[in-house]
Amino acid sequence: MPARLRVNAARLQHHLDQLARIGALPNGGVCRLAFSAEDKQGRDYIEARMRSLGLAVQIDRIGNILGTRRGARTGPLVLAGSHVDTVGTAGRFDGSVGVIGALEVIETLNDAVVSTGHPIGVIAFANEEGARFVPDMMGSLVFRGDLQLGDARSRVDRDGVSVGEAIDRTGYASTNDFTDVDVRAYLELHIEQGPILENANMTIGVVEAVQGLTWITFTLTGATAHAGATPIDMRRDAGYVAAAIVQYARTLSHEIEGQRATVGSLSLSPNIVNVVAEHARVTVDLRNPDADRLTMAEEHLLRFVAATALAERVTVSHTVDVRVPPVRFDPLVVGHVQDAAAALGYRSMRLVSGAGHDAQILARKFPAAMIFVPSRGGISHNVTEFTSTTDLEAGANVLLHALLALAE
Ligand code: HGY
Ligand code: MN
Ligand code: MN
Repeated sequence: MPARLRVNAARLQHHLDQLARIGALPNGGVCRLAFSAEDKQGRDYIEARMRSLGLAVQIDRIGNILGTRRGARTGPLVLAGSHVDTVGTAGRFDGSVGVIGALEVIETLNDAVVSTGHPIGVIAFANEEGARFVPDMMGSLVFRGDLQLGDARSRVDRDGVSVGEAIDRTGYASTNDFTDVDVRAYLELHIEQGPILENANMTIGVVEAVQGLTWITFTLTGATAHAGATPIDMRRDAGYVAAAIVQYARTLSHEIEGQRATVGSLSLSPNIVNVVAEHARVTVDLRNPDADRLTMAEEHLLRFVAATALAERVTVSHTVDVRVPPVRFDPLVVGHVQDAAAALGYRSMRLVSGAGHDAQILARKFPAAMIFVPSRGGISHNVTEFTSTTDLEAGANVLLHALLALAE
């Protein structure tokens, strides 16, 4: 009978729409920055849904929410989940699909009174995005024991608010320590956030690996000067060096195979039209599926910035805020995703994830894999992000049957 099980697409879409009303933006997107009031409301929704499905709910010290469905046996969890925090310009699908999809799988199993050998867990990881508090994947890093709680709680946002203050204010801190939770396998359903599946007219992405990412922040210090009276060769222009970094990020992306480099945040001060900039703060997001090339990109970037700053007599310091290596998923778990897609008759292809995910943190300790569904136009981290109900249903059905295979 389990082979014929299918999720309820209307119910899946309903809960996704309900969650999207929390932190809704006027233009159709959502904003639930980590540990904000909106994030708390989103987590409240997930927690309530977990309880309504009869899951045993626990919250850990960084705010990860774990709902567990008992199996016939105790022992390692078969875990599914993602995140419900978002970037500031988010659509309604990034992260939410994986948590809402996993809860739809639970409700489908409950409706059919299907019991599994292994217990099944659903998890909503805290602060996956890193949009407000760096590093990203903070919740899964603490879950895995990679990031110490004290270090995580000490991280501050642009207003100087710490994770500790923000999380205590929302009341989402608890005492549970999940670093000892035993996981048989972890599966994450997620939108692709790029154009590959749509361009190939595929419904399911069988994700084999996730590219590595490195986040660097440069702090540049020159000197203010008059924009008109100061000769160019007398200037120590932090803005000029910042602009050179933006340009070099694109050069790196062309020069190194598989490389993507992005300046997503750049601020100048005093930020006045007729004053040469004294200070600049520039972030660079480096991605590459190959660890050696990612390291090479970082080395080339640091060398370029040092030389350009020196020539402009601007001082430079930098921090490496995130360094997550590329990861390959467990072939057995990937195989279950592939088999489920095939058994369900969905067109699928293997691919490497361009975006970072909690699965790449979990994969360094437990067997893990991901299921992608297409993003219309390859758009994400953008309020117009969209995935059809039909594709969401397909992804959730693949998650259902891959979980059943792993949990039997
Ligand atoms: O940055 C990422 O790839 C993810 O969206 N946090
Ligand atoms: Mn995501
Ligand atoms: Mn994201």
